[in-house]
Amino acid sequence: MRATLPLPASERHLGVPPETTEFEREMMAALSAHPRSISPKYFYDTAGSRLFDRICDLPEYYPTRTEFGLLARHGREMTALFGRGADLVEFGAGSVTKVRLLLDAWEHPGRFIPVDISADHLHESAALLHRDYPHLQVLPLAADFTRPLTLPPHPRRVGFFPGSSIGNLGPVDAVRFLRQAFQALQGGGLLIGVDLVKDPARLHLAYNDSAGVTAAFNRNLLVRANRELGAGFDVEAFDHYAFYEPMHQRVEMHLVSRRAQTVSVGGRLFEFAEGESLHTENSHKYTVDGFRQLACRAGFLPGPVWVDPEHLFSVHWLAAPA
Ligand code: AVI
Repeated sequence: MRATLPLPASERHLGVPPETTEFEREMMAALSAHPRSISPKYFYDTAGSRLFDRICDLPEYYPTRTEFGLLARHGREMTALFGRGADLVEFGAGSVTKVRLLLDAWEHPGRFIPVDISADHLHESAALLHRDYPHLQVLPLAADFTRPLTLPPHPRRVGFFPGSSIGNLGPVDAVRFLRQAFQALQGGGLLIGVDLVKDPARLHLAYNDSAGVTAAFNRNLLVRANRELGAGFDVEAFDHYAFYEPMHQRVEMHLVSRRAQTVSVGGRLFEFAEGESLHTENSHKYTVDGFRQLACRAGFLPGPVWVDPEHLFSVHWLAAPA
């Protein structure tokens, strides 16, 4: 009985350190380092996932609609490679929109397993998908897809990793992720969307949209840190700064403080000098051959590649031989 009663106020915090979240640990590590950088996975709380959905609809952000076009046009050829009744695992499923094009084209669909770190958004999206495809078995899995996953057993699994999310990993982490995917998908394969190197001006516009949605998406990281960690960032005093860095073939996103300010995370104070940056994202761009070579390093056998006429975006089939 005692265990179910609330503790008296005087005892509530005695000897019980407040729980440290992974976000708090990583934010502390990011703020302790120079230069400062944090994983872009922390963008995707509920508000961040909604902002990302808005980015995908922006006129300047070509990847989403270009990839949609490729999936719509070539869905039959792509799903013919999936095989009959395979488990389709979508890594970083988000709003679960692109897979609909594959489900519409796939002659003999199996189960669908969307995997995403943002649990609320994932379950909402999975419920909507189930409403529209009542015969499809949907098994949502709330997890960080960059870590090894515990998937339901099945003799043939096929992965789907659209949106060039692979670009948000550095080359070493990208190969690590692909190796892990290879292990999970052996006997099947992976259909993956990859953004291509192109005119830097085009890239600049895509990450500096005129409506300021990408800037809001970037700053939402600080909004989240204020809400969840009580960090006290002066959010509006941070500029969204995104540019193409050709040596690494990547777009970098930063938040740059326009003034000196002090924030507090995990009981420690951190100073931002005027002009100091928090590096929030890299978005790597590949050539078709460069990406095929990367996939080979992870054990995949690169197969057909679909590219739009403007050569903006690619979708690759990577076979995972048993
Ligand atoms: C999710 N990811 C592939 C996006 C990208 O383009 O790197 C995230 C994004 N960042 C700014 N705009 C979109």
